[in-house]
Amino acid sequence: MKTLKVALLGCGNVGSQVARILIDDAEDLASRTGARLELTGIAVRNPDAPRDTDLPRNLFTTDAEKLVEDADIVIELMGGMEPARTLMLHAIGHGASVVTGNKALLAADGAALFEKADAAGVRLAYEAAVAGAIPILRPIRDSLSGDRITKVMGIVNGTTNYILDAMDSTGAQFADALAEAQRLGYAEADPTADVEGHDAASKGAILASLAFHTNFDLANVSCEGISSVTADDIAAAKDAGFVIKLLAIAEKLDNDGEPGVSVRVHPTLLPRTHPLAAVHGAFNAVFVEAENAGELMFYGQGAGGAPTASAVMGDVVSTARRLVLGGPLGAETPTGSVPALPFAKVTTSY
Ligand code: HSE
Repeated sequence: MKTLKVALLGCGNVGSQVARILIDDAEDLASRTGARLELTGIAVRNPDAPRDTDLPRNLFTTDAEKLVEDADIVIELMGGMEPARTLMLHAIGHGASVVTGNKALLAADGAALFEKADAAGVRLAYEAAVAGAIPILRPIRDSLSGDRITKVMGIVNGTTNYILDAMDSTGAQFADALAEAQRLGYAEADPTADVEGHDAASKGAILASLAFHTNFDLANVSCEGISSVTADDIAAAKDAGFVIKLLAIAEKLDNDGEPGVSVRVHPTLLPRTHPLAAVHGAFNAVFVEAENAGELMFYGQGAGGAPTASAVMGDVVSTARRLVLGGPLGAETPTGSVPALPFAKVTTSY
């Protein structure tokens, strides 16, 4: 049986779960892919840092560059722009396929990375970048590619959904709900990217790119977070039969006669009868409208180690299958070549 060398960059919540699955489920993974997936190393900043994991210590290395040079598949779970970007390019340059969950990097610089992966004939897959465990990118890119998507609305940040849901159900103020989210480990110690909507904006750019067959980056996304939402706002919404959700919205609009796609993130009033209003706690959901399919909703855990590792491993298995069986490689890019559309007016409706 063929052996594929798998290098892991990062050993946080998600990385440690991916390593566990690669080791514990090695037999199943081999039978599904036709190859042994050998975890050759885990690049971390400090191999001696205390970790809530019993992974073999000899897997840890600080030499990420050398690790990726010898790999068939590189799993990038460091997050952030650098050194993730340089290491991904290094991996691609050495002929490795890359699986990543790095939404911030893809939203800011995806087009350049996709071009490199296509030119090198390696796969670049990123299902884990949006909505954790929920299979959403491949359904939008592939299953719905024969349809015309008209609108995508996503609760794609679990931390802010937890906060707004707690404010809605208990009447808490934003600061208290945020403190509780931090205590439960949902929000980061620095929660800016979550509460100001930047994390959702990155995910919105990726969803819009795949749904509307073009490349949207962060510069196309207008963004407002939830830090100024008050308990009074929530109560007034509730009285009127609405719930406030932070949504990433991408939709086709007639922008004063000039058609365009609006991509935006903002607190949104949703009727309490809307399916997205029933998404509670730190869960995510993406609601899609398409001309022929009609309305679809994808729901599940959008964050956390094991759920996000599930999405990462789906990409690892499908990449390994292609490497073994000779399926198509290249980047999971938008499938069309529609030019970037004019930025459309932000509307206040959902
Ligand atoms: N901070 C993100 C969230 C993690 O709360 O959804 C997953 O991207």
